Amino acid sequence: MSLFRITRTLPEDATGAALRADVLGGLTRSPKTLPPKWFYDARGSELFEQITELPEYYPTRAEREIIVDRAGDIAAATGARTLVELGSGSSEKTRHLIEALTGLDTYVPVDVSASALEQAGRALTEAHPGLHVHALIADFTAALALPDTPGPRLAALLGGTVGNLLPAERAAFLASVRGLLAPGDALLLGTDLVKDESVLVPAYDDAAGVTAAFNKNVLSVIDRELGADFDPGAFEHVALWDARNEWVEMRLRARTAQTVKIPALNLAVEFAAGEEMRTEVSAKFREEGVRSELSAAGLELTHWWTDAEGRFALSLSEVR
Ligand code: SAH
Ligand code: TRP
Repeated sequence: MSLFRITRTLPEDATGAALRADVLGGLTRSPKTLPPKWFYDARGSELFEQITELPEYYPTRAEREIIVDRAGDIAAATGARTLVELGSGSSEKTRHLIEALTGLDTYVPVDVSASALEQAGRALTEAHPGLHVHALIADFTAALALPDTPGPRLAALLGGTVGNLLPAERAAFLASVRGLLAPGDALLLGTDLVKDESVLVPAYDDAAGVTAAFNKNVLSVIDRELGADFDPGAFEHVALWDARNEWVEMRLRARTAQTVKIPALNLAVEFAAGEEMRTEVSAKFREEGVRSELSAAGLELTHWWTDAEGRFALSLSEVR
C-alpha cells in the first residue's frame, strides 16, 4: 500500500483563470507587474533547484545549516505529528526536519508546482516508509483545506518565500496560516536577513545567468498558457536592492520597443524601449520586524535561530 497521495484542490482551469486575471491586471497597469507564483512550472521548479546550488545564492545553504543544527530543538519544542509545508518545492531541506520529528505521522507538502510535488513525494515515501505523505496542489495565498490529520500541527514556510509576498499580502497570509493552527500548534518560518547589497544583489543576479533564465521563464509560461508571443530574449533580467523597502526587486527590461500579443486575453501590450516590469520582490528581514508581523497575525515568536554568519533566520512561533 502506498502512503503517498496527491490532491489537486484547484480544478485545472482555476489555475488558467487566475493566470489570465493576474496577467491582465498586471500588464494593463503602470508600471507593469507580473505575480511571482507563475514562475514555477516544471521548468521553473527545475531552474529554482539550480539556483539553490549557485555559489552566489547563500539562502538555501544558510537555512539548511540552521535546520540541521536545530532540528532536534524544533522536534522537542513542537512534538509535531503533522508537518504542513507551504511552498515545499523539492522538500530537500525538510528531510532533516522529518528525520528529527520522531512522532511524525503525516507530511503535507503544499505547492503550485505539481511536478515538484510528484518528485518530492516519491523520494520522501521511499526514504521514510511508514510516513503518510499527502501532497496538495494548491495556492497557499488562497483558503486552504487541510486533510484531517493528528496534531500537534507544525506549519512551515521555508526558503524566505514569505519575502516574495508584498507587505499587505504577507499580513493576510500570516493571518490565514494562524487560522490553520490550534493552540499547541506552531509555525516555522524561514526569513532572509538584511545585509550588504554587495551580497544580496549577486544572489539574485548570478554570473552563470540561471536567475535570469528563471525570471524570463515567466514569459514562456504566458506564451504557452495564453498563446502570447513574448520573446524572452527581447528582455533583460534586472535585480536591484530597494533600501527603503528592504527588498531585492526583480524586473524584466524590454531591450527594444515592442508589442506583445496575448490572444487568450484579446490583448496587445506595448513596451517602450528600456521599460521595466516588476516580476518579484524578495524582502529581507530583521528580528523585530518578524516578531511584530507574527504578533499582528496572532502568533508569538518563541525561538529565533540564525546560521553562524548571521545571514538567515529560522523562527518558531506559537498560537498566542
Ligand atoms: N521551500 C523550498 C522552495 C522555495 S521556492 C526551498 O526552501 O527551497 C518557492 C516554492 O513555493 C516553489 O516550489 C513554488 O512552486 C512555491 N509557491 C510559490 N508561490 C506559491 C503559492 N502561491 N502557493 C503554493 N506554492 C507556491
Ligand atoms: N524565495 C526565493 C527568494 O526570495 C525565491 C527566489 C530566488 C527568486 N531567486 C529568485 C524569485 C529569483 C524570483 C527570482 O530567495
